[in-house]
This record gives sequence, C-alpha cells and structure tokens, in this order.
Amino acid sequence: MVRQHVNPLSRFYLQPRPLPPLEQLFADPSLPLHLDIGSARGRFLLALAPLEPHRNHLGLEIRRPLVELAEADRIAAGLGNLRFLFRNANVSFDAWLRSLPEGRLALVTLQFPDPWFKKKHHKRRVLQPGLLAGLAAALAPGRELFLQSDVPAVIEPMVALVETCGCFARPAGDARPWRNGSPLPLPTERERHVLAQGLPVYRVLFRRNAAPVPAVAELEAAARAADNPGDGADPAAVPVPPTLSPTP
Ligand SMILES: C[S@@+](CC[C@H](N)C(=O)[O-])C[C@H]1O[C@@H](n2cnc3c(N)ncnc32)[C@H](O)[C@@H]1O
Repeated sequence: MVRQHVNPLSRFYLQPRPLPPLEQLFADPSLPLHLDIGSARGRFLLALAPLEPHRNHLGLEIRRPLVELAEADRIAAGLGNLRFLFRNANVSFDAWLRSLPEGRLALVTLQFPDPWFKKKHHKRRVLQPGLLAGLAAALAPGRELFLQSDVPAVIEPMVALVETCGCFARPAGDARPWRNGSPLPLPTERERHVLAQGLPVYRVLFRRNAAPVPAVAELEAAARAADNPGDGADPAAVPVPPTLSPTP
C-alpha cells in the first residue's frame, strides 16, 4: 500500500540524492524542459509527454512506490521525453537546477501540493523559500511557473511568497487573483477529481521577469512574518491576495 503522505523533513527524506544530468535522463537532452513537482502516480505526465514531444518532462515525487509505477508505465510506453525521479524537491535540487544550461528550463508546474494544514507542519509544504529561489535562478526571463490548488489556504501563501520574491509577473491579460482556466492541455489527477465534484480550482501563471533573485534568508524572513502576523514583524511585507471567484 502506498502511504498518502510522507514527512519530507524526516531523516530518510532529507538524505542527499543528487539528480542525474539531462544526458542521462532524456533521449534528446537539448529539448526545453518542463518540471512537474509532486508528480504522484504520473498519469498527468504520462498523457502529456506524447502530446508535447517538443519538450522533455521531468516529474519529481517524494513517494518512491509511485515513482516506480510511473517509471514502469513510461518504459512500457517507450517515452524518451519523460522521466520520473524519486526525490524530495527541497533536497539536492538546487545544485542540479544551477547545472542546467541557460534557458533550458521552460516551465515549472506545482499542482495541488499537499496542504499540511496544521501551522506546525507548514515547514513540510513543498514551496519553501530555498526551492523558489532555486527555480527563479534557473528560469530565464519569459519562462513560466504555474501554480494550482483547490485549497485557498495553501495557494495564497505560495502566491504571496512568489510575489515577495519579485522575480515573476503575471501575464497582462490574466484575471486576478485567479486565472481563468489552466494553460495546460490536460488536467492532473487531483484536478480531475476536484472538477468532477464541481469544486473550485485556484490558479496562477507567473512569468519570470529580469529581476535578480533575492537572498533566501530574505524570503525566509518574509515567509515567517506571513506565518506569524502577530509577532511584531510587518505583516504587510507579504501581501496575501483576496480570494475572489475561482475558475472551473
Ligand atoms: C496532492 S498530490 C498532487 C499530485 C499531482 N500534482 C496532481 O495534481 O494530481 C501532491 C504530491 O506531491 C508530492 N510531494 C509532496 N512533497 C514533496 C516534495 N518535497 N518533493 C517531491 N514531491 C512531493 C506528494 O507525495 C504527492 O504525490
């Protein structure tokens, strides 16, 4: 049986696990790269990769049994532009992101991340300041970061952190605070499930601008201030967008 959640801060998941270079992952490593963080059982990328042969797709997932199942399906389907790796996105990832050829990372998707509702568990959430800084450094201007969730309390702090970072802007025509529809041609597994129940999905597409990446410590301080608004820190430092009508 596959566990529903694992604690990304437990010793096992904090062990360094360097990622292989692109040459060891894809048939044509020179293709633009789509990175999906939290790819779960992999059905979304398994369906997307043949639809988008002009890109390589890499799914990072912390639950190893799911990665093994997804990789078995990928091999059976003979998809050379798709790989799944068992990795904690907050461990050993920064060095790999820095090793990517400039401009290679085209799109990062972070879809329906685990909510970890209790405040003492917020550190287990996947979009931590260090990961965001690493992604911002690896994405060239114009490249994209797409976030979606069905839980406002989860996506609002993610959006606030990205806005605090200052390295991203939304496309001019996009509705605020939530985008109308997904920019992707297929829904994820979780997205299908949420939409089938007629529930809302909150989405934001960000595009990398030319701003320099702030220090991780600066982002960490802003995230702490947002998590502890009564602690004397300036709560206005991290604006939280209001929740208006989400899009189906
Ligand atoms: C709720 S699922 C969503 C799966 C998929 N993105 C979807 O929309 O159907 C979130 C996934 O992120 C994975 N995950 C959580 N923390 C992670 C981390 N630090 N690194 C990699 N994957 C992580 C979980 O194991 C889980 O499979």
